[in-house]
Amino acid sequence: MACVIIVGTQWGDEGKGKIVDLLTERADAVVRYQGGNNAGHTVMFGEKTFILHLLPSGILRKTTSILGNGVVIDLAEMIKEIDELAQMDIAVEDHLHISDRAQLVMPWHKTFDRLSEEQKGKNKIGTTGRGIGPAYEDKVRRSGMRVGDLLEPELFKARLEEIVEEKNKLLELYYKSDEPSFSAEEIFSEFTAYLKILKPYIRDTPLLVNQMIEEGKNILFEGAQGTFLDVDHGTYPFVTSSNTLAGGACTGTGIGPTRINKVLGIVKAYTTRVGSGPFPTELLDNDGELLQSEGHEFGATTGRPRRCGWFDALLVRQAVRLNGITSMAVMKLDVLDKFDTLKIAVSYRLSNGEHTENLPRSLENVTPVLEEMPGWKCKSAGITEYDQLPREMLAYLERISELVGAKVSIISTGPKREETIVLNPDQFWL
Ligand code: IMP
Repeated sequence: MACVIIVGTQWGDEGKGKIVDLLTERADAVVRYQGGNNAGHTVMFGEKTFILHLLPSGILRKTTSILGNGVVIDLAEMIKEIDELAQMDIAVEDHLHISDRAQLVMPWHKTFDRLSEEQKGKNKIGTTGRGIGPAYEDKVRRSGMRVGDLLEPELFKARLEEIVEEKNKLLELYYKSDEPSFSAEEIFSEFTAYLKILKPYIRDTPLLVNQMIEEGKNILFEGAQGTFLDVDHGTYPFVTSSNTLAGGACTGTGIGPTRINKVLGIVKAYTTRVGSGPFPTELLDNDGELLQSEGHEFGATTGRPRRCGWFDALLVRQAVRLNGITSMAVMKLDVLDKFDTLKIAVSYRLSNGEHTENLPRSLENVTPVLEEMPGWKCKSAGITEYDQLPREMLAYLERISELVGAKVSIISTGPKREETIVLNPDQFWL
């Protein structure tokens, strides 16, 4: 048995969906522990491409799929996702379990996400607009509503009325919005309809996950977003509102830290970021455009173009520490096929002229010191044998591994399942 956490080491979109799908082959359950439908996990399955926003990627292989208590759930969106899968002949019955303690994304969360971004103007975070921040705010303020509340309609209704009154005041007096106010009655009937569909899936998931661990099962914990979007350790305030780090898997599912055996860090061979916030190795030139076009770097959730830049070893080294990463999967190496030269940030020059190899608290005024390496200038896309990888790519991988302090266990050379080199398949599951 083993508990393996999959975590993004940059700003999300590293390719976690593909690796979760790959490791799911030998997993008994896949569990999401934070975030909501701000995530977009792209998985290619046969000739089909799926983009999952809320459901764990394991659902595609009909593996037990659990949404842990740390996730915030937009029920309407989840039902939509379940329906879309059903149209592709992927039924979720018998596989899906939703935590009764997970927080609900309510209609006002989406409205306030939008209004708050509008109010911030040029300082906006560039959120996905899915209501994630306001939902977590309410969780911590203790004015959130949980999936399990739906099971007690009278209590749910009473709380809803109380909260709606407050939210309407916020809408009118704080945001000075002329949008229609929220109606507790309408929301109650909307959520009652959702409950009818989702009731069979709701359960005590901390109990379920712990029982599976006691039975010696293999469990995969699927992180969403990436290390530097973590609300504590990311580029605050340009972050999401949850703990995206591996540590979040414990609180977000109700298991103890002693249960975790491995943490697999997913690393993109270069760097991307969606939304606002500092990005030291960002490229605003032809190289950046080439990364964007070769890597199809557009957000899976919002379709926004992703900002692109060179690999930043300071970021990933910090991610290795923060997550306790035991090995890495390096993704999208084939995107670099056309580059003559590749660059890696190995240190930063700070505004006071000093240099650092450790990630500073603020990345706003740092200049990356770049090391150059020769590109491989040949088609690596689709290579499945380690021996056939170009010499320059192996040197690039070796340098990354040395700089960040973690070994490479998976190399990905394309979006398909087969386009992957797993260096030692037995190392993940004990
Ligand atoms: P929020 O999570 O919608 O509040 O957005 C906060 C920040 O996190 C924004 O910069 C988003 O672009 C970013 N973000 C949220 N989810 C993802 C993701 O799945 N991939 C990449 N960036 C994300």
